[in-house]
Amino acid sequence: MGEPSAPRRLAVMTSGGDAQGMNPAVRSVVRTALNHGAEIFAIYEGYQGLIDGGDRIRAVSWDDVSSILNLGGTIIGTARSLEFRERDGRRKAVHNLLRNGIDRLVVIGGDGSLSGADRLRQEWPSLVAELLERGDIDQATADLHPALMIAGMVGSIDNGMLGTDMTIGADSALHRIVEAIDAISSTAASHQRSFVVEVMGRNCGYLALMAGIAGGAESVVIPEAEVEPEVIVRDIQSAYARGKAHALIIVAEGARNNATRLAEHFEAHKNQIGFDVRVTTLGHVQRGGTPSAFDRLLATRLAAAATEHLDSGEHGRLIGMLKGEVSSTPLTEVVGKPKTIDLELLKLQKVLAQ
Ligand code: F6P
Repeated sequence: MGEPSAPRRLAVMTSGGDAQGMNPAVRSVVRTALNHGAEIFAIYEGYQGLIDGGDRIRAVSWDDVSSILNLGGTIIGTARSLEFRERDGRRKAVHNLLRNGIDRLVVIGGDGSLSGADRLRQEWPSLVAELLERGDIDQATADLHPALMIAGMVGSIDNGMLGTDMTIGADSALHRIVEAIDAISSTAASHQRSFVVEVMGRNCGYLALMAGIAGGAESVVIPEAEVEPEVIVRDIQSAYARGKAHALIIVAEGARNNATRLAEHFEAHKNQIGFDVRVTTLGHVQRGGTPSAFDRLLATRLAAAATEHLDSGEHGRLIGMLKGEVSSTPLTEVVGKPKTIDLELLKLQKVLAQ
């Protein structure tokens, strides 16, 4: 960062679904900003906090982010705000930022949150002009803050966004899933059962595929490579015929043949399957708990880089990790564009499961 005459005012916010690693990211933003002589604010409860203003936008100190590295969730809260989708809501957000003299924002969230951030950045000049016209702000304030500088990081367990090889939270969620699969496997083997385990990921099969490989599943069902229930039945039958004590199917929640549909199909064909079948939907346990060491490191590095990036003159960037290096990509190039999955890994899973 350079040496401006007045301290710059930055804010950090978490938005969308929480993810393990958001707290280490917040800590890193706050301390990097303070270390560079900036004033740093936290926006509480995501975009809703930005719209509500008042004590939902507060200055934070070095000690305010002590002892949070190992905490899951986000201490500054998050929300999915419908009001922010409307221009009126975004104008209130700009007004609240200007009231606090803030025009630099680090946003940690998923695809929707980051596209919202970039939209706010693009609309900033026109929203400032509107506020001026309405008499909500004076000319000096408008002149002082001609642009909004945004740096985003993907905080999401899904690992479904372009611009970073890993999103903050995906590794911890994967650990949680694999622990659950290991636990299920022991009870499954004791009863000679087959388990269908549904995991999160929205429209992305990353968590399901990786958990399937790491947990030694018989089959993986993901939206990127849909399979019919008959194929899964054959996989389970084959495991049974090979004398396996149990069989495990990992299904991504976004697959057309999700756990509910598979369970219905298995019930209708239970005489052919061999194993007794049970279904477990892991749900929000995947998003809970302490962040892994990987997520703490990823979040810490990306957040420090994002904070410094606000002074780079390149506004509206996603700060990610590509091939082990911290990278910066225009948000416009990554939002709304899902990452493809490496289907070679699906082939590997199938080969190893035989
Ligand atoms: O995007 C993260 C995620 O956990 C998805 O995997 C899941 O589909 C969704 O959020 C659940 O959202 P909510 O917490 O609002 O139920």
